[in-house]
Amino acid sequence: MCGIIGYIGSRQATPILIGGLRKLEYRGYDSAGVSVIDPASGGPSRVIRCRGKLANLEEKLTREPAAGTVGIGHTRWATHGRPSDENSHPHKAGPISVIHNGIIENHLALRAELVTAGAKFSSETDTEIFAHLVEHALIAGAPDLTTAVRRSLAKVHGSFAFVVMSDKEPGVLVAAKNSSPLVVGLGDGENYVASDVTAILAETRKVIFMEEGEMVTVTRDGVTITDFEGNARTREPKMITWSAVQAEKGGYKHYMLKEIHEQPRAVADTLVGRINLEADDVSLDGIELDVSKIKRIIFIACGTSYHASMVGEHLVEAMARIPTEVDLASEFRYRDPILGPGDLVVAVSQSGETLDTMEAIREAKRKGAQVFAISNVIEASIPRLADYAFYTHAGPEIGVASTKAFTTQLIAITLLAIHLGRRTGTLSKERARELLGELVALPNKMRDIVESGAQIQAIARRYGNANGFLFLGRGSQYPIALEGALKLKEISYIHAEGYAAGEMKHGPIALIDEHLPVVVLVPRGPSYEKTVSNLAEVRARQGKVIAIATRGDNEIGGHSDEVIVIPDTALELQPILTVLPMQLLSYYVADFKGTDIDQPRNLAKSVSVE
Ligand code: AGP
Repeated sequence: MCGIIGYIGSRQATPILIGGLRKLEYRGYDSAGVSVIDPASGGPSRVIRCRGKLANLEEKLTREPAAGTVGIGHTRWATHGRPSDENSHPHKAGPISVIHNGIIENHLALRAELVTAGAKFSSETDTEIFAHLVEHALIAGAPDLTTAVRRSLAKVHGSFAFVVMSDKEPGVLVAAKNSSPLVVGLGDGENYVASDVTAILAETRKVIFMEEGEMVTVTRDGVTITDFEGNARTREPKMITWSAVQAEKGGYKHYMLKEIHEQPRAVADTLVGRINLEADDVSLDGIELDVSKIKRIIFIACGTSYHASMVGEHLVEAMARIPTEVDLASEFRYRDPILGPGDLVVAVSQSGETLDTMEAIREAKRKGAQVFAISNVIEASIPRLADYAFYTHAGPEIGVASTKAFTTQLIAITLLAIHLGRRTGTLSKERARELLGELVALPNKMRDIVESGAQIQAIARRYGNANGFLFLGRGSQYPIALEGALKLKEISYIHAEGYAAGEMKHGPIALIDEHLPVVVLVPRGPSYEKTVSNLAEVRARQGKVIAIATRGDNEIGGHSDEVIVIPDTALELQPILTVLPMQLLSYYVADFKGTDIDQPRNLAKSVSVE
């Protein structure tokens, strides 16, 4: 997830671009850059870009100013290629400057074609490909920048919002959208494009939200919107009445709610380029694990990432039949763990900076184990320490409570388990094909749940005054019960316990009375009947049951006070769906209580102390 902005008008572009990028820095912060052109002088555009936070770019611009009234700016959150000056946007090919938010899925094939056609690349990014495609389209006879961009769009697959500028046609900016956000801002004798309305709110409140498969040619005096085939599209501008703070949250009340709703998109981004439906296999970005050398897998992580790892234990053992364990990173090195070269340690961390997890990795490496890191942040300390780094591509998560980081971790772990299972031969081609099909269908099923927030909000209001909650689940739903309890504790400050449903009778059953809401994860599957029995035990003691069940389960309503349904999916993927109502329930209970949801007391987003 990156931030993009473009300006065309009569004022100096650079201060407007920088002002916009400041508002977008939360979308990405590992490098930033601008490309600015002065149409009056007809000179080539000046690209100033550098690694690091926006402040580094601002400092560089004081030494190397970029003057001109047309420009594009970008703040990067790396997906392809490490954060570096060369990988920073804008990317240039001849007269063409490009900024991009998203992922070009077929970038490797296109890069090879372009190299054969003589293109010289100066970065590792997928984005630079688009600059070369547009340049080549112009060389091949496209009459103008808009046509060249249109012809280039026909070649790329993936999610993107591009803004393109040409030294030879400095009076226009051309932008296009597919799955990544893009908004056009309308001014008086000047216009804007941006990934986010926040970036341009200080300049204009009159905007057009671009829709999927649309492109726009922007001049000082107007905008022309078409689809990718060139058919005209018309749309009335909207007046934005949100405050700047509301706009940053995309109109949602909190970042956490925004991030809950972003999950279908985030999960789709985690899957991009990693599913090979022809081979019934997955690609781990070129990582090939030699399963003949792996005798045991040990997941290490903290908090929510630990819960994702617990699901991972189920997935890896079921699919790859490799003995698997899960350890709390904060405990791991204090028990002198028995480790060696036959062990693959999988370190899971959203931030990639959790000190406990880093220290556990150092311990594992000292003892000769190989380390595979799953991180959301590219080039963070944890992936850099590891032998293999695999990224979740969820985009920056601002709310302290992990939501999209968790579901994308589950996807990354599922991909790892399929990769291992195909190589050990314990996951058949047929089952792999079914799972891959289910993975592809998952974002829409997730959308279905996150959009049913009103029912969960009503439940949250009914039970929001409770002094405690119990969460129960069996099998891979047990970690989701733990995650549900953690989420609720973190943001609502209500005490909550997560338990394996079968353990209830060994203690927590004593807590149950008419005041205790008990959330029971009971999707269809091998543990269904046993979990229904646990649920009946709760009801027999007057506990209030909130069941999370599979759509079409007509039996469960008779055993529960409330039922929240999820769509059906493969057993292995159910945790990715059942956790969504947990997140929404916690969010709405906390909202009902009026707590500081995005920055709950005593917590930090990145825990870099032991
Ligand atoms: C999640 O909601 C928490 N904020 C916390 O438990 C977190 O998952 C934990 O601190 C681990 O962080 P990491 O994923 O960045 O390593």
